[in-house]
Amino acid sequence: MEKVAVLGAGLMGARIAQVAAQGGYSVILRDLQMGLVRDGLQAIAKNLDKMINREQIDAKAKEEIMERIQCTTDLSDLREADLVIEAVVENMAVKKQIFAELDNICPAHTVLATNTSTLSISEIAASTRRQEKILGMHFFNPVVSNRLVELVRGMETSDETIAKAADFVATMGKDYVEVKRESPGFIVNRILIPYINEAIFTYGDGLAGIEEIDLAMKLGAGMKEGPLELADRVGLDTISSILEVFWHEFRDTKYRPHTVFSTMIRAGYYGKKSGRGFYQY
Ligand code: NAI
Repeated sequence: MEKVAVLGAGLMGARIAQVAAQGGYSVILRDLQMGLVRDGLQAIAKNLDKMINREQIDAKAKEEIMERIQCTTDLSDLREADLVIEAVVENMAVKKQIFAELDNICPAHTVLATNTSTLSISEIAASTRRQEKILGMHFFNPVVSNRLVELVRGMETSDETIAKAADFVATMGKDYVEVKRESPGFIVNRILIPYINEAIFTYGDGLAGIEEIDLAMKLGAGMKEGPLELADRVGLDTISSILEVFWHEFRDTKYRPHTVFSTMIRAGYYGKKSGRGFYQY
């Protein structure tokens, strides 16, 4: 694989384009408007500047990385891509439409990946005639420093597709785990979200205060960060919507939100990004 296309130049898409260009790939970055692609490009340049300041790369490397990224708003520019990574809004109807269009535009060998956090890979794949070449490629935020990518199989994803994706991830200096069967939350969020939710129940049920719960898990369980600090960093709105997906899919009461948490969400307590969550910022 030589040419990689990234759809969506937002928080995840721009960073995925960056790490692919750092890995030596020629990258096409696409969003709906040129202004959005430029914003993404600016975010990449800023991040590379930080890497220069930390002496991780030099100015020439930055220039080379930036030169490898081509911008477009035109989906038909993706007709030469060997791999497409979709990182647009988390909306099934939008993703299905994009994959159906990509299926018509891209050559038969092109692998189509989605960075979805919660949606069904198989349902997205069903909008194409190449279900064996579709997979989930789930990057973690912050993409540049987080080393993990979950490679997720849909119903018909082939071994060859997983192998190609694994090679791609490795050349970017990242590690991967293969998720053998799609299921909401894959591996990391399947474990992490109920853990955070239990910490919220521990607080909501009045067992201890916020700082005490975080301190207990750091000292007692050797966690680097307490669960409620972590919740604020991830975003309480994000946690709430993932819980909602789990609840609908598994119909298991362990995924219900505590009323204290629901009230916080309604009041706009989204964590660090809104200035107020379990902590005040
Ligand atoms: P974002 O809102 O920052 O960026 C989405 C971008 O997609 C926007 O720039 C939007 O203009 C663009 N877009 C919308 N429709 C488009 C289309 N038809 N063609 C091209 N671009 C289009 O969202 P973010 O956070 O980057 O999330 C993107 C995907 O990554 C979602 O599926 C999300 O679930 C997933 N994800 C997000 C993580 C996070 O921490 N934010 C972590 C892992 C996965």
